[in-house]
Formats: sequence, structure tokens, C-alpha cells
Amino acid sequence: MNRLHQLTYYFNHGAVAIAVSLFTLATVNAQTIIPIETAHNALVLQADAKKDLKTIFFGKKLANKEEYSQVSGQYKQTDDYSEQLNAAYTPSGSRNLVEPAISVTHADGNNSLDLSYVDHTVTAIDNNVNLLKIRLKDPAYNFEVTLFYKSFYKQDVIEQWTEIKHSEKGIVTLNKYASANLHLKSPHFWLNQYHGDWAKEMQPEQSELTHGIKTLDSKLGTRANLFQPSVFMISLDKPGEENEGNVLYGALEWSGNFKIDLELDYQNNLRIIAGMNNYASPYSLKPGELFTTPAFLYTFSNQGKGDASRKLQNWARNYKILDGKGSRLTLLNNWEATYFDFNEQKLADLLKDTKKLGVDLFLLDDGWFGNKYPRNDDHAALGDWQENKKKLPNGISSLVKEADNVGTKFGIWIEPEMVSPKSELYEKHPDWVVKQPNRPEHYFRNQLELDLSNPKVQDFVFSVVDGLFTKNPKLAYIKWDCNAVIYNAYSAHLKNQSHFYIDYVRGLYTVLQRIRAKYPTIPMMLCSGGGGRVDYGALQYFTEFWPSDNTDPLERIFMQWEYSYFYPAVSSSNHVTDWGKQSIKFRTDVAMMGKLGFDIVVSKLPEKELQFCQEAIKNYNDVKAIIWQGDQYRLADPRSGSVASMLYVNEEKTEGVIFNYQVNYRYGESSKYPVKLNGLDANKKYQIKEINLFPGTKSPIDGSKTYTGDFLMNIGFNPILNTDRTSVVLKFEEVK
Ligand code: GLA
Repeated sequence: MNRLHQLTYYFNHGAVAIAVSLFTLATVNAQTIIPIETAHNALVLQADAKKDLKTIFFGKKLANKEEYSQVSGQYKQTDDYSEQLNAAYTPSGSRNLVEPAISVTHADGNNSLDLSYVDHTVTAIDNNVNLLKIRLKDPAYNFEVTLFYKSFYKQDVIEQWTEIKHSEKGIVTLNKYASANLHLKSPHFWLNQYHGDWAKEMQPEQSELTHGIKTLDSKLGTRANLFQPSVFMISLDKPGEENEGNVLYGALEWSGNFKIDLELDYQNNLRIIAGMNNYASPYSLKPGELFTTPAFLYTFSNQGKGDASRKLQNWARNYKILDGKGSRLTLLNNWEATYFDFNEQKLADLLKDTKKLGVDLFLLDDGWFGNKYPRNDDHAALGDWQENKKKLPNGISSLVKEADNVGTKFGIWIEPEMVSPKSELYEKHPDWVVKQPNRPEHYFRNQLELDLSNPKVQDFVFSVVDGLFTKNPKLAYIKWDCNAVIYNAYSAHLKNQSHFYIDYVRGLYTVLQRIRAKYPTIPMMLCSGGGGRVDYGALQYFTEFWPSDNTDPLERIFMQWEYSYFYPAVSSSNHVTDWGKQSIKFRTDVAMMGKLGFDIVVSKLPEKELQFCQEAIKNYNDVKAIIWQGDQYRLADPRSGSVASMLYVNEEKTEGVIFNYQVNYRYGESSKYPVKLNGLDANKKYQIKEINLFPGTKSPIDGSKTYTGDFLMNIGFNPILNTDRTSVVLKFEEVK
């Protein structure tokens, strides 16, 4: 085995936890090839004779590793004048002519940076995960950048981030500090991006990238994804399909301002530069101080969007989402049932309803706190996390006890980063509030943020959560909301205001880390006025997220569809509410495609509807492991036809569920064609039965018939949808 093969071996097998220093290799060979290989892909970097680190290949891996060095020679594009168009991390102020990954002002005021390869090490963390570190240094300054590539072999996922430090004589200002800088080659690039607003999350758009820079970004500070999330897809050559095409998925693991530049350069290559947004945020770095960027996450598939999404979902369950392989609690939430208008008696009834319905937990939403300024609407009391004595004279602890008595669990809503102008907290600690000292306040949902860059505020936020658990050890669930964006960004605590946006999010993560150190497994829902903060930076502390306040089931079919490309079903909280005109069956079926919950007045349900819900919850308990942990296949896209169809199958391909909906109610519409199944074993035989039938209805589907996987995947199966049957849930099982 020569050194290159040896290195490749470690990347592939990662069997031993070792660190390989390849400094010698760099000095022996004029060119150092650094392949990062996963099950199907390779990202290949090269430190050339001048010590420039470049990306020479990214895509489906080659059988013969020796050939990566010959890839570049096959492209006859125009000149690379700077000789660093494909830099693995583009510096600025020296030769560079395009969008940089990093830009700095040195201690002596000089704005130039160059980065030369020094050495790299590979550490096998376990059989599946490797960590590659590449050190780069400016030949003219004591300024160092380390690139980190954490690769997940089976899932074809890479997390990439950067550490920056220096030992110059004074402060260095970081003007830009990307997490990653990718370089892709293809004649055409198609971008799938998302936009939205409250109740309109994850609206997809697809376009071919043209020359110049397309930027996906957020400057909202908190609730950062409200208008645009950082997740996106790039299809190479032609628009990716569900089951074919070369597709890259990207996402930034960061809950604050982000910036992703997609630069189609003059040579026709795509440069992706992703990281925290440097907007209003030049960051000053003392000698010896370490600046670490969040990770940029990407996966690639040459078999279309479906395959890429299953890889990402699998990665998220195994490595990122808190307790991703664990179980979840079904629940009844009182938000839409009562809004702010409740008291002990009403809640006691709802606790009984929780038990009657058959879900695991009752979740008390907004409105339970504030005395001087009671929380009776959304104009007051955020920050005053004491039970309102009028509504709850015996406190939360009596409710937790009552829940225990009726045999259910109890969870609670908080929004601990926020403060209402009408609150005792604001009166006591005006210096904890994010606001400009000399400008009028401007509110988002009548509220302001607390300054989480301030350690005292971090202590306060931690104490809100810690206090609830200390007083109520049986508290079983937290819904953590964040309803405002940041206006008038200013911290009374920080000396350097341009650190604010970054230090806010770091402060938030510090609090969440403290919470998780003390309460490692308590389920927590990540909510932000709907889906304003769904990202993998936050999700490592949360078990699930709230996709949107829009729970109209027809809308949810589309929205959950888009979320599912990036996030596994186990993390998606889907509630049955009174939004939309659809039947209770339709609403429940849609909510079952993730983590099921209810937000309805159970006592007002007609008998048959209650019976339906109770049976549906039993069915759900039967199949939820497949929905949460199985592989998800998108069969029929609601955007391209009248039918939406989504399949979940277990790893052994012996059991699964298919959710089918008619999404177009025009005259005569129906499922005219069979829906082609996917993810089955062609050689196995299956039976398909309809479940979740409304009491008193019969299924036209003959559950005793047997079909091969081959038949079901090539011909398909008709769920028999029509305007009288708009929602059909099918369960399939292998028969021997
Ligand atoms: C946000 C959340 C809702 C609900 C309300 C309470 O809008 O998204 O689910 O909790 O706040 O005020």
C-alpha cells in the first residue's frame, strides 16, 4: 500500500481511531491529493506545487483513485487568471478575482490574505465517521485557517467548518468567514430554493443559475428562516428528478443570519460559499483567540432528489437531531382550543380529554403567566414566567399533579428569549433588552428580544427552564417558541456592536447546551411562530420542530412534502386542528405523516369523529416506528398532478404505510392511474390493506390480494381516490 492508498483505506474503512499526519507526503510529492470518500461520492482536494489548496473533483467517486489527478485535464474551459478559481477556501486581497470565503484586515491594517497548504490529518472517529483537518497559513502573516471535513461514509454526508486564529501583534478583523467553499463543474446548474412568510413556509422555486451571484440569505437575527431558510438543492446539468439526476443538498447549521452565495463564474463553474452572514458583523479577533464557524452540511446523489433526501434523513436521525432514533410523545395542545382564555377547570377537562383521546401528553400553550401584566393576549408578560394567579391559583405544579392523576403527561410552552414592553422584566432590566438607545422601539408581534450575548441574560433564560423542571420534576415536554425577528440590533452589554448577531446565537446555543447537560433527553419542540427556526444548528438540542402555524391539511401536504427533503418525519410535529375544510379523517391522515398531535376541542367532536380519532391513534401507534425510522419515498407529487402519495417502508422492506390524497377537487378528478410504489423488494410478495377508515365506511380495496414488489413498483397500485375518497391510508405487509 502506498501512502495514497493507505489514506484512502482509512477514509473508506475508518476502522482504527488514529491520526495520520501527512506532512511528509506533502514534502515528498510536489502535489498532495486529499480524497474525501464516502460510500458513493468523492470530494477531492489537491495542494499543488505552489501549496494552493484546490478542489479538483466532487461527484460520484471513481473506481481508480489514481485518476482523480487527471480530471482537470479533461476540461478545456477559459483561463484561470488567478490560478485559484477552484480554491478550497478562497482568500481575498491577493490574487483572487471572485467572491471570497474569507476576508480580513490584519493587525497592521493590511487587507490582503493568502492561504497556503501546511499539512493535514485524518482521524477515524468510528467505522462510519472520519474527520479531516487541513491547515492553511498565510505566508506573509501569522494567520492560520483550519478546514474541517467530517464525513459520514454510509450517508454520503459531509459537514464542513473552519477555525480561524492568528498571533499577530494586535486585533485582526474578520470581514468574512465562510464555513465552506465548494466548487462544482457542470454545463448547467439548477437551483431549488425556498421562500415564505408566516403560515407560508417552504414555498419552493426552481431556476437555472445564470452568471453572477445568486444569494440566499437572512438578516433577521432571530426567526431567521421566516422569509428564506438556508436549505437548498443544486441539480447538475438538468433539473433533478425524484429518482434520477445529480443533486447536491446544502444547509447551514446555524440559527441566525446566514449567507449562501452561488456564484456561476466566468468559466461556467459553480462556486458555493456558505456561512454566517457577515452583514453588519465584522468580527474582531485577539491574538490566540479561536473563531469557529458553524458547519455547512451537504450531501450528493447521482440518483435524484429522493435518494439524497433519504441520506440526509438517515444522517439526521443518527447524528444530529436530539434522540433521532428514539420515541416521541403524541399530544393534545390547547392553543387553538382556548387561545389565551383558560382557567384551571378548563385545563382539568382538557387533561381528561387527553386521556380519552388516547394521546401521551397534554401541552399547555401560551397564556399561563404574568401577574402585574397578565398574558391575556400577545401584548404583555413575556419575561414574567410566573403562573398567573387568577387563571392558575394553584400553579403549574397542581396541573402536573392532575395530569399524573388522570394518567397523562404534561408539557408547557415558553418563549424565554423574549420580553414584552409591558412586563416586570422590562421594568427591572431595561439593559437586557435588544433596542437602540436613541431610537424608537419597533415591535414584531408586540415584543422584543432579550440580549443573549449577555451572560446574565443567558443565566436568566436557563433559570426559566431549570426553574420549571426543579419545581415540577414530572414536567415531560417543552415547546420553545421564538416569535420575533430582531429590529434595532444593539446590545448594552457588548463593547463591539458588530459582534451582536453572532454572539446572540452563540449565547442561545450556550443556554441550550446547559439545558441539555442537565436535561439530556426531555423532548423539546422547536417553534418560531411556525417554522421560522428550522435548522440543524438548533435541532441538535430539540427532538422535533413545528413546521408552520398553517395546519390546513391541504397546505400541509405541500409543506410537509418540501420539509421532508431535508428533515426526517420523526422531527416534524403535525397537528390536527380546525384549519381547512377537510374532514377529520383527512386532517388526521395528513398529521400522521410525521409526529402526530391534536389541537382541537375533543369534547365537541361528534361521537363518530371521536371514535375515528381514537382508532387512528391506535393505528398510528402501530405504524409510527415505520414513519419515524423507515425510508421515505415520494411517489406522486401534488405539484404535478391531482394525487399526492408518500410511502414509508421499514429497513427490511417487509412493512410499510402509504398516504394518498386527492389534491384537486375538479369534476371527475380521481386517481385514474396506478401509483408506482418504490423502495420495496421486487421478489417479495405483499398484501395491501386500507387503514384509518371512518366508522361506518367500507374500503373498496380488497386486502386479501397478493402482489409482488416487482408488480407494485412497475405497474403500481391504485388507492382509488375520488371526490368522495380524498384521503386513503394503506398499510402493506410481506406475505410468505
Ligand atoms: C406561535 C406558535 C403557535 C402558538 C403561539 C402562541 O405563533 O407558532 O403555535 O404557540 O405562538 O402565542
